[in-house]
Amino acid sequence: MKNTSKFSIYLSPPTLAGNETEYIQKAILNNHFASFGEATDAFESQILKFTGSSNVSLCASGTSAIHLALKVINVQAGDVILCSSLTFIGASYPIMYENCEPVFIDSEIDTWNVDPVILEFAIKDLIQNGRPPKAFILVHALGMPAQIDKIIVLCKLYNIILIEDAADALGSSFDGKKLGTLGEIGIFSFNANKIISTGGGGAIVSTKKEYIEMAIKYASQSRENVTHYEHKVIGYNYRLSNLNAAIGWAQMEQLESKIKHRREVFGFYCKELEKEMSFQIELNHSFSNRWLSSFMFKGNESKKILLKLEENGIEARPMWKPMHLQPYFKNAIFYGENISENIFQKGISLPSNLRLEEQKKVIAIINKV
Ligand SMILES: Cc1ncc(COP(=O)(O)O)c(C=O)c1O
Repeated sequence: MKNTSKFSIYLSPPTLAGNETEYIQKAILNNHFASFGEATDAFESQILKFTGSSNVSLCASGTSAIHLALKVINVQAGDVILCSSLTFIGASYPIMYENCEPVFIDSEIDTWNVDPVILEFAIKDLIQNGRPPKAFILVHALGMPAQIDKIIVLCKLYNIILIEDAADALGSSFDGKKLGTLGEIGIFSFNANKIISTGGGGAIVSTKKEYIEMAIKYASQSRENVTHYEHKVIGYNYRLSNLNAAIGWAQMEQLESKIKHRREVFGFYCKELEKEMSFQIELNHSFSNRWLSSFMFKGNESKKILLKLEENGIEARPMWKPMHLQPYFKNAIFYGENISENIFQKGISLPSNLRLEEQKKVIAIINKV
């Protein structure tokens, strides 16, 4: 397929400004192409050190990491799995891989993440109907922390396993603790547009060693630890190659400066945009990596802005269409009203990794609309 991109400024392009070439060369010289080697070890150690988690496994993608999370907690067909409705579909497809029943929860207006009040209502209602949820895939949308302190209390109270989808949120924190490490399992994505990228990739972290050991086994075709190829249960090819890990290793070295840059970009939009708009708010104790600078504009301004930016070769994106409005999930249960739908209608993500001169151009176009 030819690259026919019409954009000169992209939404969230990767920046490979460090030791990427050197570490890839090392991997090639050492002939380490498979899912283990110096780069894999180095990248995993960096993730542990940075997040403060105790166990990690690299994966092929964020989606596969979520699937592995569901496998290691041993979900069964028909189990109820709660999930944020405002998310990318990769957070929710794994529920269907395991033939579980997704139940989607609406957002709150401040963080755009799950509203704890609606969440509690949903849990109580499901329990009353004899359908207690087994797990909750909580999304920290676009890097913004959800109100995880309240959510942890609810999950403990109702015996629900908390899986943090921190695909967008590497480097964000709540109360000084890195997102992805507050639930029983956390996942990250390193796809091409994330704050650090390995082209495609992800990771699963947990304080429970047995979870990560199981994840590694499932991700390696569930091969038994014997010389020949022995398999007792279903498995997957979900490991990340050492070559991709080499890029991740170099990218991790730049993570702090990437977070600083994304936050500066967000701050400059807030200062310079002359429109009435709202955005995700960092509540007390929250720190967001501001992976994507996203705004809700009044009336149908967002649609006009998207169009104008596109005409000028600038890539911006509408917010995710909530899961409960997706045709694929038309039969799924949803708790909430219209907050996530409204965010979808009025929200757009603007280019979030760009130079100051480029950002000034974007802002000038928006202000003219
Ligand atoms: C919130 C969220 N969850 C899950 C995923 C899936 O990650 P991946 O694209 O690495 O499979 C994404 C990514 O794009 C995401 O934004």
